[in-house]
Amino acid sequence: MNARAKPILVLFATREGHTRKVAEHIAAALRAEGRDVTLLNAGDADPELELREFSAAILAASVHVGAHERAMVRFVRRAREALARLPTAFLSISLSEAGAENESNAPEIRQKAAREVADTMNRFFEATGWHPDRAAPVAGALMYREYNVLIRWVMRRIARASGGSVDTTQDHIYTDWQALDRFVALFLESLDPA
Ligand SMILES: Cc1cc2nc3c(=O)[nH]c(=O)nc-3n(C[C@H](O)[C@H](O)[C@H](O)COP(=O)(O)O)c2cc1C
Repeated sequence: MNARAKPILVLFATREGHTRKVAEHIAAALRAEGRDVTLLNAGDADPELELREFSAAILAASVHVGAHERAMVRFVRRAREALARLPTAFLSISLSEAGAENESNAPEIRQKAAREVADTMNRFFEATGWHPDRAAPVAGALMYREYNVLIRWVMRRIARASGGSVDTTQDHIYTDWQALDRFVALFLESLDPA
């Protein structure tokens, strides 16, 4: 089997569901380019998952209270050596990145948010010992309709301080889908240098 014939693994870890949508978007973009894709939730992934069966891997995990999802940390720690043998990319989904990208935020708020994003990603790389070939932050979502009363109240306060929406009657998605498409296209190009 040549490398091209093997599927690309898209593995995600989510709490409120938005990173699943990000992963599904990536999978659809890859399939539109004729790639075979295996989409898996890290929480459900078989611990014996054979990474040799894939030609590349894109991992995506959301951030809660300063850390990436435990299921992703656990998976990457276990699979670090096999991941190192594949072309890999990591996407970190957070609201801090939404704050960093929000052009109506003051420059110091955007810089502080960008520092938080970088620190959180670096903590993940240190905690797992994994260094993907490519990594990028992705602006996440405020899923007010998924939160309980307490979390909704906390998230509204955080949103007010960081330029997010305080309208708790609906969810708010900050992901830049076109930027995500560009990231995926560059990753694919790196697999198939012309
Ligand atoms: C309780 C809670 C804590 C959060 N903590 C952080 C955080 O520390 N930093 C951050 O940037 N975003 C934080 N977020 C925002 C999430 O990263 C964002 O909503 C993301 O889209 C969640 O993705 P998921 O639905 O895939 O879990 C938090 C969200 C919740 C509900």
